[in-house]
Order: sequence, then structure tokens, then C-alpha cells
Amino acid sequence: MLGLEEKSPLEMLQQFAVYFDANLEESLGAATLILNNKHGEGSISLYELFPGLTAWVYNITFNSELVIDLKFSSDRPYYFGYHVSGFQMQKFADETEYHKIRQGQNFILISEPGTSSEFKMSSGIKFESCYLILTPSLLKGSSHNTRKRLEQNLKEIFLQISGERPYRYFGDIDAHTGTFAEIIIKNTRIDLVGRLLTEGAITNLLAAQIEAHDLDHQTDNFQPKLTKSELSKITELGDYIRDNIDDKLTISVLSKYLGFSPRKLQAGVRFLYGYSVNEYVSNVRMEVAKELIYKTNKSVSEICYMVGYSSRSHFSNLFYKRFGILPSKYKDSFYKDTLMYEVSYRSIASDKLNESDVQQIIDVSRINNKKNNITGSLIYYKNVFFQLIEGPKKEVLPLYDKIKEDERHTDVITMWSGSKPYRTFEKWDMSILSDDGMLSIQHQDRVKKLNLEHLLGEIDENAIVSRNLWRKVRTIINVSGKVSKSEL
Ligand SMILES: Cc1cc2nc3c(=O)[nH]c(=O)nc-3n(C[C@H](O)[C@H](O)[C@H](O)COP(=O)(O)O)c2cc1C
Repeated sequence: MLGLEEKSPLEMLQQFAVYFDANLEESLGAATLILNNKHGEGSISLYELFPGLTAWVYNITFNSELVIDLKFSSDRPYYFGYHVSGFQMQKFADETEYHKIRQGQNFILISEPGTSSEFKMSSGIKFESCYLILTPSLLKGSSHNTRKRLEQNLKEIFLQISGERPYRYFGDIDAHTGTFAEIIIKNTRIDLVGRLLTEGAITNLLAAQIEAHDLDHQTDNFQPKLTKSELSKITELGDYIRDNIDDKLTISVLSKYLGFSPRKLQAGVRFLYGYSVNEYVSNVRMEVAKELIYKTNKSVSEICYMVGYSSRSHFSNLFYKRFGILPSKYKDSFYKDTLMYEVSYRSIASDKLNESDVQQIIDVSRINNKKNNITGSLIYYKNVFFQLIEGPKKEVLPLYDKIKEDERHTDVITMWSGSKPYRTFEKWDMSILSDDGMLSIQHQDRVKKLNLEHLLGEIDENAIVSRNLWRKVRTIINVSGKVSKSEL
């Protein structure tokens, strides 16, 4: 049984990755777990559209039965589930019988804080399912239009069901919802272009489910006269826009690029994304801007120009409309000393490096990092460096820029660069993988020993430099001490 605590979606997926010994790929606001081992095959992706709305997408077959015991937090989120293929069994902690969530059925579950629910998934069945997780408290007070609308819709559901806690709703078999669930499931990309495609489908999916819950909410029901291959071509548009982000991207430029009439282009974009072409272009520009603010030290004016705007105030207005926060405020939010930022990378040591050179790096780092409130770990293993540094963003990013320029290593590949809610290392715990293969992590008064040698055990020389291996090490290090791995 996999015991999961209802935490941030990313932390939950990290727990999955450790439990299944799976690879986890992360990007801003999205992550995907890739399973290809004795436990099963496929992927689980999550997309956080904004705080308060996350989609979990299963596209996976397990080789043995999986029972998840989900402990509910005080946030009381709403789960909207839909299985395009496969089914699931669910029961609350105080129940003896499981209830079947059937293929094609709308399913809504609202938790009761402090209780838990079990979800059972059989082996050998392909799950193509989508769960939308909405946390009303996180949507509150937002000036963002989509969020305000969502909060209103949820309130209406909540009013209907406030007498029952926890709440579970099994709807009819509903093919309309399935159209949108299928788009979400088939899209395996987690970069910003993939996320935008998912965003449109999620909004439609949620509307369809709420509608099916007998509310008087009307969806815009677009029936495009486009074939599947034409729609799939439209999904390529996002890449084109991103690659030409500082150009003038008019409807006529874009329809020429696709070889479609402007009408067809407009109908397709509206169906997939729920926006006009111009709004969609602006959304891609805003997502790129957001990523640049998040991942670089560039000023808002520079970023405004880089994503194709000459007027800073126009840019700020559009950014505010999309994310409900001004770009300058969003940038400032990463420079609070309380907010943790992490960079982890792997690199290859230069040929001439010997043990005493490595020791020198460690000595200098210990002194500098302590001064700058940076913690983390450096692993030096068979000529490969893996380092995780964490601390205030204003310290971490400049340090990383400096490290990248250091001639004592080459081929630096960033594994992850982003915020996280906690510090993994309490102190600067620089570890060279020693003879016993152990890495110590001190986390909240506990010292956790990780046997990396065991982890890297069956890895051949070529795999030592692979991204996947170090991605796995990073996930394990971050989850360490927070998940108990029981038998599968
Ligand atoms: C693999 C590797 C990891 C490093 N990690 C750190 C570190 O965590 N902190 C640090 O201050 N310097 C680190 N350095 C060294 C920096 O690149 C740089 O040489 C050092 O910070 C001294 O810079 P300064 O002379 O500007 O103070 C690392 C170098 C390498 C090759």
C-alpha cells in the first residue's frame, strides 16, 4: 500500500516516484513520472494551472495491484475524476465496501479533513484517467477571472452538499466529458506549450463535469468541423509561437504557416484552448515571460522586450490579466529571504582534477555558502559531479552562474531550477560518495543515511553521466525522510 499525504501535488508525485523507483521530470508548473520497470509501464503527469487547480493524469498500466491510502489535509480539496479507460475502486476509511468508479463516469469526491480514502487500481489494466484537484481556499480572493468564476461554481456545488461530509458523487456515463479528458491524457508534454493545451481542455472538462452535476452552468459547446489531424496540427502552433516569440504573430501569419484558412485556424484554436487566436498568442507570450522571470535574473523590461512587446505597461496589464499579479510583484516574490530556491545539476570533472582539487572546492564552498545562507550537497562520483544548492534565489542564481563558468568541470546540465516549500539540507552537508557509498542528510533533527552506492549499483560506466540517473538521485534526496516505502 502506498501511504500518501495530501500535500502539494508535486510533493505527492515525488512520493510516487520514490515508491515506484521511477523517473521524474519537472518543469515550471508541471511534472511527469515515467515508469518502465517491474512495477509497470506508462506515465503520471501533473499540471498546476495556478495555485488551487491541478490536474493529475494517469496513462499507465501497473503490474501489480496498487492501493493508495490518501490522508486528507485541512484544505478540503475537491476531486473531479474521469476514466477514459480503466476503472478504480474507492472507499472512505470508515467504510468496509469499495465503490466502483466506472469507465466514462463523472466522479466527484470532497474530502473530510483528518480522514482518509483508499483508491484501488488493478494490475494489468490500462488507466487513462484524469483527476482535477481544486482547492477552494487557494482560489479565494483572487482577481484572476478564471479563478473567480471557478470559485463561484464551486460555491454552488458546496451549497448543495454542505450537509454531507465527506461527499461523493457518481454521475452518469458521459461521453462529452470524455472528449476533453482524452485531449488531456494524449498530451504528454509538460513544457509551457503542452501546459497551455492542457489548460484549455481542463477548463472544458471541469465545465462539462460541473454541468453534469446538474448545475445551471452552460459551456460554450464548440463543435469544430476539423479533422483529428488538423487539430493535431494546431497543437504545433504553440511551438511556432514560442520559437518566434518576438515577431508579429497575426492571424494571417499563423494561418499561412499552418496552411489553413483563418476561419479554420480560429475555430480550431477556440475548440482546443477556449481562446481567440490573439488571446492564445498573448497567453504563450505571458507563459514564456513567467518562465523567464522565474528562471533568470533578467529585468521585467528586458523580458517584456524579449517576448515581443515594446510597451512595458501594456505587457504588465496582460500579465496581470492572465496571472492576477503584476510581473514586478511576481519577480519580487522570488526574492524574499524566506522563499527557498533550488538548483541542481550534473557535470563532468575536468581531466586534470585530483582528490585535493575536489577538497579545495569543498573547503571554499563551505565558507562561502555558510555566509550566503546556502545549503546543499555535492556528490563526486567516478568523475561526475552532482550538486544541489538551495537558499534565497538572490544568492543561489548568481552562485550557479559562477559555478557554470568554473573550468574544473564541463558539460553542466541543469536538472532542476525552481522554488520549493522547504529546505532539504539543514546544513551545508557536502558529501563525497565515500567508501561506504553513504550520503548523510540532516533533515529536521534527523540524520538520514542514503546508500547511493546501492542506488547506483547496477549502473554501467555510460549511465553514470546520464540525466535520468541524477534526476532520480535528486528526487530521492528531496523526498528522503518524508515517505515510508512499504512493500509493493
Ligand atoms: C563542481 C563545483 C561545485 C562548486 N560549488 C560551489 C559552492 O557550492 N559554493 C561556492 O561558493 N563555490 C562553489 N564552487 C566554486 C566556484 O566556482 C568558485 O570557484 C568559488 O565560489 C570562488 O569564487 P570567488 O573567487 O569569486 O569567491 C564550485 C565549483 C565546482 C567546480
